[in-house]
Amino acid sequence: MASPGLQSILVIGPTGAVGLSILRELIKRRSEFKRIGAFNRTSRSEHEKGFIPVHDEKRKEYFDELEAGGVEIVTGNYEHTDAFEGFDALVLAIGNLGIHLSPRIIDIALAAGVRHFYPSEFGADLAVNDNWTQRYYKHKAITREHLSLRAQEYPDLGWSYIMIGRFTEWSCATYFGVDVKNGTGKIYGNENGRQSLLPVPAAAAYTVSTMLLPIDPGEPKTFRREFRFHGGTYSWSFIFALLEKITDRPFTVQYLPFDGAVEDGRRAKAAGDEKGELQASHRMVQGGEGTVLPQPWDNERFPEVNVEPIEVVLGRAYEDGLLVGVEQ
Ligand SMILES: NC(=O)c1ccc[n+]([C@@H]2O[C@H](COP(=O)([O-])OP(=O)(O)OC[C@H]3O[C@@H](n4cnc5c(N)ncnc54)[C@H](OP(=O)(O)O)[C@@H]3O)[C@@H](O)[C@H]2O)c1
Repeated sequence: MASPGLQSILVIGPTGAVGLSILRELIKRRSEFKRIGAFNRTSRSEHEKGFIPVHDEKRKEYFDELEAGGVEIVTGNYEHTDAFEGFDALVLAIGNLGIHLSPRIIDIALAAGVRHFYPSEFGADLAVNDNWTQRYYKHKAITREHLSLRAQEYPDLGWSYIMIGRFTEWSCATYFGVDVKNGTGKIYGNENGRQSLLPVPAAAAYTVSTMLLPIDPGEPKTFRREFRFHGGTYSWSFIFALLEKITDRPFTVQYLPFDGAVEDGRRAKAAGDEKGELQASHRMVQGGEGTVLPQPWDNERFPEVNVEPIEVVLGRAYEDGLLVGVEQ
């Protein structure tokens, strides 16, 4: 007998870029859910805070906004089950440097009765090229393996992997080798190298729509799910031409052999620079078209979701100052 879908959702990392977008979308569809929670983690260490982009004051502002939208602020830490009790699903919208915590959080949530997980994916298809073994995706792959392992003990354990390629708004950041402020690019690969981009609001809207799909406990494919949402696939030459149009200035782009990023990764690892390691690995993935989203795509199952054109989204990101100096 199919259920009406996931009715109560708790978002971990609710004030992060992805978590907040999903919660804003959940608020728009508040009446379709019984319970929506935002996890206020009290055990954030000062060390972790150094890696988390949202500072305490802004975080409080976001929590106030969420509460005003009908979201329950659930306070706790990753080591106790209490906070997770009563939720059908956890969205793990955790930043890259915290994804290693996911298996532990999943186990605590399972003990609390949670049976569905949206792990912190929201990126490339891990099955493309050698993404599975790339440093950038290490903890995403470990989390998938962990879920498969636990599924042997919990037959009703489910997951949803949301794959989008890359987010349009953050695709032209300095972290990825694009310097909008100075009109330069340093890209591993060549100008024909492609990537798939989807705007953040569309990704959030698709994610929320998947929560409302019926689940049949007798049909694992209804609760062990993969979704690919495609906005568009573009070459670097297309993207730089668009940036020139948006910013009204020429760009000088240097294309480098993409395996040069291996050396960057080695240096970063030796220096204990995890962020640098991830950056180098992402450049490898990118150079090898690892963020091109393969078919089948699931967009047509959710016609209610609007995907804005790339020129509108990048134009707005530029106006909002998002393209200058953004790090991911
Ligand atoms: N494909 C793309 O283009 C793209 C772009 C951006 C992000 N993403 C993906 O989206 C997911 C979320 O990323 P995001 O940018 O939204 O994350 P974020 O803003 O960096 O962090 C989100 C939240 O995760 C927790 N967190 C972050 N770093 C942590 C650490 N070192 N230790 C413990 N907790 C930490 C914090 O939550 P609390 O402290 O409140 O618990 C933080 O507010 C990731 O899987 C990322 O790879 C993909």
